[in-house]
Amino acid sequence: MTPKVVIGFRLPDDVEREFHARTDAHFVDGDWPARDTNALIALLDGCAALVVTPPIHADAWLFAHLPASVRVVATYSVGLDHVDLVAAKKRGIAVVHTPDVLTDAVAETALLLLLGAARRATESVALIRSRQWQGWTPRQIIGQGLAGRTLGIYGMGRIGRGIAARARAFGMGIAYHNRRRLAPALEEGAAYHETPEALLPACDALVLACPLNEATRGFLNARRLALMQPTSIVVNIARGDIIVDDDLIAALKEGRLFAAGLDVFSGEPRMDTRYYDLPNLFMLPHIGSSTIEARLAMGRAVLDGLIGVLAGGSPPNRIA
Ligand code: DGY
Repeated sequence: MTPKVVIGFRLPDDVEREFHARTDAHFVDGDWPARDTNALIALLDGCAALVVTPPIHADAWLFAHLPASVRVVATYSVGLDHVDLVAAKKRGIAVVHTPDVLTDAVAETALLLLLGAARRATESVALIRSRQWQGWTPRQIIGQGLAGRTLGIYGMGRIGRGIAARARAFGMGIAYHNRRRLAPALEEGAAYHETPEALLPACDALVLACPLNEATRGFLNARRLALMQPTSIVVNIARGDIIVDDDLIAALKEGRLFAAGLDVFSGEPRMDTRYYDLPNLFMLPHIGSSTIEARLAMGRAVLDGLIGVLAGGSPPNRIA
C-alpha cells in the first residue's frame, strides 16, 4: 500500500511531483498546526511518515501527540536541532535527515558571505542602488582581500571541509577546531587548534559550521569575540543561536570586528532588529542550501530515507 506521508510545508514543484509519484503525499499549504492537538490528529490520521523542516519543531510535545501509525519523522534539512531524538526513541519512531546532498550549496553560501563581508557588499549595493554613486575613486568602499589570510573553521564536518576546499582556492590558509582532530587525509594541511580559544586569535576570518547543541549554544560571546582581531570577519552558516547577538552587534558597532556575514539568526525570521542597520553586516535570509540541485537531492534523500525505513530497512541517512 502506498504510504500516507504528511509534509508540513510546500516544496519546489519537481520535488512535490516526486513525492506524489512515490507516496500518498499531503502537503500543508499554510501554517503548521503547532500545539493544536485536534488539527494535528485530523492531519495525521493514518499517516506513516511526517516530514518537517527547522521551523517545525519535532519536539517532545509533537512526538507525544503523533498517532501510532507514524513510524518515521524525516527532516528536510541536515540540521537536527529542532528534532528531539530522545523523544523519538521513546516513541520508537525513526528519524532521517539530509546530510551530504547540501554540502556544496552551503559551502558556496559560506564563501558568498565571506566575500560579501570582506568586500563590503552591503555598503556597495546600497550605494549603487541609491543612484547617488559619483563614480570610481581609489578611496571608495575599500574592503579586504582573502588571499594570504587564514580562515578559521569551527566545526570541521562535511560542510566545514567543503568550505576549506573553496577557501584554499582563494589562497587562504585553513585553521580549525573540531571536537576531534581529523585524520591527515581529511585535514589536508589545515592547522588544528585544540581549543577555540587557541583558534580565534590565529584566524583572520571565522566560519561557524558546527551543529547547534547545548555545547555550541551561545558559543560566540563577548569573551571569545575579544580574542579575535579588529580586522577579523565572522561568518555563520550554521544556526543563529551559536552567536550571542548582543555581543556580536556591540563588536560590529564598536569596530572590534571588521565585518560579519550571516545566513542564520536567533529567532529567525523575527531576528534582532539591530542587525538591519549595520553597514558592516552582509546578511542573507537562510538560503544556505537553496540551490535547485540541493533542493532536488534533499527531496530524494528524504523520500529514499522514509521509504527505506517503512520497508524495514536502515537507510544511511537514518539518524535514530
Ligand atoms: C539545514 O539543512 O539544516 C539548513 O540549514 C536548512 O535549515
